[in-house]
Amino acid sequence: MNKFIGILFGGIFILTSLYLTSQTIDNLNKTDSQMKWFKDAKLGIFIHWGIYSVVGIDESWSFYNGYIPYKDYMKQLDGFNADNYKPKQWAKLIEESGAKYAVLTTKHHDGVALWDSKFGELNVVNRTPAKRDLVTPFCKALRDQEIKVGLYYSLLDWSHPDYPNFTKTEKRYEVDSIRWSKFNDFNFGQIEEISNNFNPDLVWFDGDWEQSAEQWKAKEIRDLLKSRNDDIIINSRLQGYGDYATPEQGLPIKKPNDKYWELCMTMNDSWGYQGNDTNYKSTNQIINIFAQCLWMGGNLLLDIAPKPDGTIPDEQIKILKELGRWTNKHESAIYGTEAGLNPGLFYGPSTLSADSTIIYLYLPYDPQGQVMLKGVNNEINRIWVVGNGTKLEHATYLKPYWSNKPGLITIDIPKEVLDENMTVIAVLLNGKLELGE
Ligand code: GLC
Repeated sequence: MNKFIGILFGGIFILTSLYLTSQTIDNLNKTDSQMKWFKDAKLGIFIHWGIYSVVGIDESWSFYNGYIPYKDYMKQLDGFNADNYKPKQWAKLIEESGAKYAVLTTKHHDGVALWDSKFGELNVVNRTPAKRDLVTPFCKALRDQEIKVGLYYSLLDWSHPDYPNFTKTEKRYEVDSIRWSKFNDFNFGQIEEISNNFNPDLVWFDGDWEQSAEQWKAKEIRDLLKSRNDDIIINSRLQGYGDYATPEQGLPIKKPNDKYWELCMTMNDSWGYQGNDTNYKSTNQIINIFAQCLWMGGNLLLDIAPKPDGTIPDEQIKILKELGRWTNKHESAIYGTEAGLNPGLFYGPSTLSADSTIIYLYLPYDPQGQVMLKGVNNEINRIWVVGNGTKLEHATYLKPYWSNKPGLITIDIPKEVLDENMTVIAVLLNGKLELGE
């Protein structure tokens, strides 16, 4: 009898563990499949558009840090007219750059909503000569170009009468649960509008650092967004309740541990439009940074900053177009790829095709006729120049017939195949990549 009970319980135990394991795997697979478009997209465009573009000063921080009195900061409302706002042209340009998603600031820390919010009165419809909802036509234009819609929303709101923090030196209150819960109702109201009115593919929260997950009700925010769209992707700035990491301005120096991540970066040194800031990175530099993100398996979210009338500055258009030429030519080496080889195997960034049979080698330099590749055990099927098709010669050295070492592969790179920004070489292997030492 005892033996029977033992077997019975043993059986139940095994079945339960099998069930739990399969549940975990199911959940994991679900997350992976929900993250797939984002992981494959590689390039997104961030858009910081708000009243701060009128004078051309730091978004929200300029009054928070006391560079300008709040009253004067808010005077910018009168100059935000959106007169030349052409969301279709924005979407066309974004598409041309090779980006697969875009993220618009629907409300920065200054609390000015870019849509017709029923919560609070501080929005561009009520308070600026733009007088209309700017988010709806943006979402439509993106969707018409098959670009995924991302919406940025600042959790903290330094303008809201019930939000505790106002500026670096002035607080509205320390602890006041009634006012805080009023603020929370307002925040949930706006987040629900974002979800219901625009049904975004991605929500990019910001400003979570000022309160805890419990105070924001971060889990409830996530649940709310998921209840409308279970496939929604949320960035990490929701006190632990997001889906992917967001390093800012700093290119990781080694492959991050996060499975999904995105570097957000300005083209010059400002998120919003500042006519005075001419410190633009060159297209070459941006491509280099992008290639490093690809190498480490991450995305780049590159910022543009429209003027108060909605026009995109010429310098930024130029960069987007030049970047577009490069991404378009090299699309097979970019979209849907996996992180590349460990540093040390090749001088420069690289990526792998999803099935690991092609290594894409990026050449951010003139290789003086030849590049070298270490550690690859496979036989090579064929090597060509991406976006050009020219087949390239290769040879294997340091691999005598009696050795099982991987040898050293050299690939000839004639001058005439070099790209004006960065050349990419595809190395097709016989079978999946096998590394040796
Ligand atoms: C920071 C800043 C903000 C900017 C954002 C973009 O968190 O607060 O001004 O919009 O980063 O990543």
